[in-house]
Amino acid sequence: MRIGPFTLTAPLALAPMAGVTDRPFRLLCRSLGAGIAASEMVTADVRLWHTAKSRHRMDHRGEPEPRVVQIAGGEPAMMAEAARRNAELGAQIIDINMGCPAKKVCNRAAGSALLRDESLVAAILDAVVRAVDVPVTLKIRTGWDTEHRNGPRIARLAESLGVQALAVHGRTRADHYQGPAEYATIRAIKESVRIPVFANGDIDSGAKARAVLEETGADAVMIGRAAQGRPWIFREIRHFLTSGRELPPPVHAEVRDIMLAHLEQLYAFYGEHAGVRVARKHLGWYRAAAMPDHQSHRDELIAVTSADALFREMRVAESAVVQLTLARAWLEAAVGDGSIAGGHEEPEPDAGTPTGDRSRPRAKVA
Ligand SMILES: Cc1cc2nc3c(=O)[nH]c(=O)nc-3n(C[C@H](O)[C@H](O)[C@H](O)COP(=O)(O)O)c2cc1C
Repeated sequence: MRIGPFTLTAPLALAPMAGVTDRPFRLLCRSLGAGIAASEMVTADVRLWHTAKSRHRMDHRGEPEPRVVQIAGGEPAMMAEAARRNAELGAQIIDINMGCPAKKVCNRAAGSALLRDESLVAAILDAVVRAVDVPVTLKIRTGWDTEHRNGPRIARLAESLGVQALAVHGRTRADHYQGPAEYATIRAIKESVRIPVFANGDIDSGAKARAVLEETGADAVMIGRAAQGRPWIFREIRHFLTSGRELPPPVHAEVRDIMLAHLEQLYAFYGEHAGVRVARKHLGWYRAAAMPDHQSHRDELIAVTSADALFREMRVAESAVVQLTLARAWLEAAVGDGSIAGGHEEPEPDAGTPTGDRSRPRAKVA
C-alpha cells in the first residue's frame, strides 16, 4: 500500500491516541510490525507549542519513514500554518484529526465536531493541502450521528481536494465509544473514493482484521486500544493476514524484555520523574493484556496473590529503578503463581523477530 511516495511495509497502522502513542510507543509498535504510526494529535495553535506536552508530541527523532504528525484544530489558516511548520520540522505526512470526540478539541470546533460543517471541512483540507508538499491524510468517523452518516461525502470531498489517504473509525461522533463499530459505512466510503482507506474500530486480532478487510474492502486496518499493553499485536495480525494462521503468543521472557525496554525508553524520553508516571498506565495495560480475565485487586486492602501485591507496589513506585525491579518481579510472580498461563508450543520459523529467550515457558498474553 502506498501513501504518496511511501510504500508501507505492512497494511497496518497504529491509531493515533493522545496520551498513548508517544515516540517510544510508536517505535515499539513499528519494530513489532506496524507499517505506519501517527503522532498523538498536536494542536494547530502554535502559541501552545512551547509546552513540554507539545514538544514531546512533535518529537519524531529516530523514527522510521514515513513520519506522520497529526494536527487538530478548526481554523483553516492555523491548520495550514501548523502543517507547514511540522513539515519543516521533519513530518513526512500530515494527518488531520476529524475523528476525535474529546471535549477539549470539540469545544473548539475541531476533531469530529467538524464533520457537521462540510464547508469548513473543505476550507481546512484545501488550506492544509496547499500549504505543504508532503502528503496530507485525514482521519474521520462515519459521520456526526446515526442520522447523519456523511462519511462518504466527506471522503469524496477530501479526495477531490488532494487528500491522499483516509482512516475511518466505524462510529459516529455521537457514539463516542459505545456499541460495536460498524463497517458498512466504511465500505460505502471505500466504494466512494480511489485513495487508500484504513478501516478502524474494535480490531483486536488477525481474524478480526481479515474479516474487517473483507467486509469493508479497505486497503489496510488501523489498530488503537488493542495495541495497549500488547504491541506485538501487529506482528500477530501480519502473520495471520499472510499465513491464515494464528501466531502463538510471545513467551513470557519476551513480554518481560519488551516491557522493560519500553519502560527504559519512557524514562529516556520524558526524564525519570514524568517517565515513571507515564509508565504506570502502560504497566496497567500490560497487566490487563496478560491477564484478561483477572480481577484487579489493586484498590483492595488485601492482595490476593504475591503478584497482585507486587503490582500494587509497582503502581506507586516513584523511581525508575524501583519500578523496573518491581515490574520484573511482578511478571515472574504472575507466571509462577499461574495467573499468566504457560504454554508449550514452539514458535513458527516465520514468527517475527523475537527478542526474548524462547526456551522459557510461554505466557498466554493474547
Ligand atoms: C486514549 C485514546 C486517545 C485517542 N486520541 C486520538 C487522537 O489524538 N487522534 C485521533 O484521531 N484519534 C484518537 N483516538 C481514537 C483512535 O485513534 C481510534 O480511532 C479509536 O480508538 C478506535 O480504534 P480502536 O477500536 O482500535 O481503539 C484516541 C483513542 C483513545 C482510546
